Amino acid sequence: MSEKSTYAVVLGAGKGTRMKSDLPKVLHKIAGRPLVCHLLATVDSLNVKKAVVVVGPDMDNVAEAVAPHAVAVQQKQLGTGDAVKAARAELEGLTGNILILYGDSPLIRRETLEKMIAARENGAAVVVLGFTPRDAGRYGRLVVGKGGLERIVEFKDATEEEKKITLCNSGVMCVDAERLFGWLDMLRNDNAAGEYYLTDLVALARADGLKAAVVEGGEEEMMGANSRSELATIEGLLQKELRRRFLDQGVTMTDPDSVYFSYDTVLGRDVEIEPNVIFETGCVVEDHVEIKGFCHFEGAHIRSGAKVGPFARLRPETDIGENCHIGDFVEIKKSVIENGAKVNHLSYVGDARVGTKTNIGAGTITCNYDGYFKSKTDIGANAFIGSNTVIVAPCTIGDGALTAAGSVITKDVEPDALVVGRARQVVLPDRARMFREQKKALKESLKK
Ligand code: UD1
Ligand code: CA
Repeated sequence: MSEKSTYAVVLGAGKGTRMKSDLPKVLHKIAGRPLVCHLLATVDSLNVKKAVVVVGPDMDNVAEAVAPHAVAVQQKQLGTGDAVKAARAELEGLTGNILILYGDSPLIRRETLEKMIAARENGAAVVVLGFTPRDAGRYGRLVVGKGGLERIVEFKDATEEEKKITLCNSGVMCVDAERLFGWLDMLRNDNAAGEYYLTDLVALARADGLKAAVVEGGEEEMMGANSRSELATIEGLLQKELRRRFLDQGVTMTDPDSVYFSYDTVLGRDVEIEPNVIFETGCVVEDHVEIKGFCHFEGAHIRSGAKVGPFARLRPETDIGENCHIGDFVEIKKSVIENGAKVNHLSYVGDARVGTKTNIGAGTITCNYDGYFKSKTDIGANAFIGSNTVIVAPCTIGDGALTAAGSVITKDVEPDALVVGRARQVVLPDRARMFREQKKALKESLKK
């Protein structure tokens, strides 16, 4: 890696008008994490000495999301060059490299940034990340001559000849830290946009007799999110990459395109996932787990050998033990299901512990909320909870206890006890036939 220290500035002062949102653009999420945090994770993986995020006024929520990274406020949006200036107090007087990135373009690869840093070490004072998109559109164009990169011309300022250049500016740069702020002070805004263009750094470096270089990257990693539809596009690209990563790592998916992951999803080996499964943030799935179709998980830990779904919903702070079976239309929230326990059909288990090897019958409900407070249910090991049992929490059911089907359990149950909490069955012989005859006769009499 690099000999010199590297620092980073992430620009994120733009409001992102085209998002039509109350949220600053860089806080919109892909794979469960804000755009700017994806980028910062990549930057952090380069062991940068410091990363500063440039935000607009009233973006305390961005500062909160990026903490403990530093933020600098750009009061007015006077252009990308002015935005970098806002980070001066944090980054002036350093030696080494300063990487400049856009907070709304989170797919940049670490390897690409490493190449840029290497190009700096090779003697370029300014390194620009360029790419050749299928449609060059309104991107800035990189003007390359015999001596390498000469300048960047913004689309708005380009001549017809320059607009024909296909090598475009991604916006990402790596600049000599000692020279950056001196050059920023020399920027002028006498251009088509009336802005201070960061891109003018290239011409300034060349005028000082220094080298500028281009590193080329792929179009996909340059993609930014300026609108909801672009946000959906980059979400799709990231999901594709996550699926590929898990497949390579030994996960079976019958229809990978229908499975959605979070940036932090952890899957073990030989996990099998059927179609239409969604992992929200905070999920860990251990080895040899089988996940049937149409499940939704958030903040759940599923231990090795468990079988879950189809149609299971696991909510935050759920811990499914080894070899457990969680079946269809089961919702589990903030509960520990210990090894080998089964909750196979149509149940709600919340704020509970279910002991090892216990069987929870179909339709069992823990009543954990009385409209004011949440209460806990504790079910021991080897218990048998009959179908359609309602357990009114707080409630403790001992090891080996058995509840009769249809019971409403309102008091604690001793270990090994059988509890019946329902009305006794009443049988009236012949009464059904008599009932039908009476009704039939009544109907006939009314017809006459
Ligand atoms: C910029 C480049 C252009 C490049 C394109 C790639 C300049 C002058 N132009 O153009 O060559 O092809 O990106 O997408 O740099 N920002 C601030 N404060 C400001 C202005 C911008 O923080 O005052 C931030 C924005 O939030 C955004 C980023 O800088 O994240 C880029 O700004 P934007 O206005 O989108 O630049 P472009 O005009 O697209
Ligand atoms: Ca832009």
